[in-house]
Amino acid sequence: MRVLHSIAEMKEARRKLRGSVGFVPTMGYLHEGHLELACRARVENRNVVVSIFVNPTQFGPKEDYAKYPRDPERDLAMLKSEKVGIVFMPSAEEMYPPRYSTWVDVEKVTERLEGAIRPGHFRGVATVVAKLFNIVEPTRAYFGQKDAQQLVVIKKMVADLNMNVQVIAVPTVREPDGLAMSSRNVYLDPEERKSALVLYKALTLAQNLWGKGQRNADIIRKEMTSLIQSEPRAAKIDYVSIADAETLEELKNIERPAVVSLAVKIGKPRLIDNIILGA
Ligand code: PAJ
Repeated sequence: MRVLHSIAEMKEARRKLRGSVGFVPTMGYLHEGHLELACRARVENRNVVVSIFVNPTQFGPKEDYAKYPRDPERDLAMLKSEKVGIVFMPSAEEMYPPRYSTWVDVEKVTERLEGAIRPGHFRGVATVVAKLFNIVEPTRAYFGQKDAQQLVVIKKMVADLNMNVQVIAVPTVREPDGLAMSSRNVYLDPEERKSALVLYKALTLAQNLWGKGQRNADIIRKEMTSLIQSEPRAAKIDYVSIADAETLEELKNIERPAVVSLAVKIGKPRLIDNIILGA
């Protein structure tokens, strides 16, 4: 496994690769969810490139960029056992040199949900992913369903800018009890960890109501909200959303594929999760 830090080295290595390239962009502090993406990339491509880059431009001024968990040595050991060929680990200065000034702004789908609560977040995500695509030139790029809106944004960017990459969605990997794996789960204390399960319980409730034929999105949103409110450590609900899976517009009636998503603060940490209905 080669670990490359400069863009020039990465481009040079890319030029020498023969056959398809599967690419997994990450911010490190890897877990089973990330490894699942790397595994899919390995099965479906001749070469696998994983990037580890905590992207400063997707964090708001009051967010956890400085405190975002990092453990590059452990990450590299994990990627080695996944038989990843190249790990690209640039510095922030390498990606954003002084006077950097070009941004990718995907409109509309970024205005809701995470985008409404984290202004500028998706501009940072789209910009760094566009740069990484230009550097790595992947055949296929792998993203987790865990970040449903991010996936919609990246697919839209690739379509709108005619990028030559196939975006592959990988289902959310969960802990045995249902909690979606996330690098931010380390912030949960043992009590909060138990309470965090309320996100999955609320999504399961939505799935069950829908399974029984409920198509009124308002009724499902209300049931989910009161379940979450019954959890004392659920400090704040940012949103409980049932939206069109492509446009992310809120639905009144669930008559086409919908993404049920929620963001809840459990103690201090803020967790997100989602499921797809009717896909
Ligand atoms: P990060 O949070 O490290 O996630 C990297 C990829 O792993 C994303 O596509 C994310 O959706 C996926 N992922 C995270 N948890 C998962 C889980 N439990 N199951 C399946 N996939 C999971 O998302 C980012 O980094 C950044 O925004 C990035 C795209 C790298 C741009 O900076």
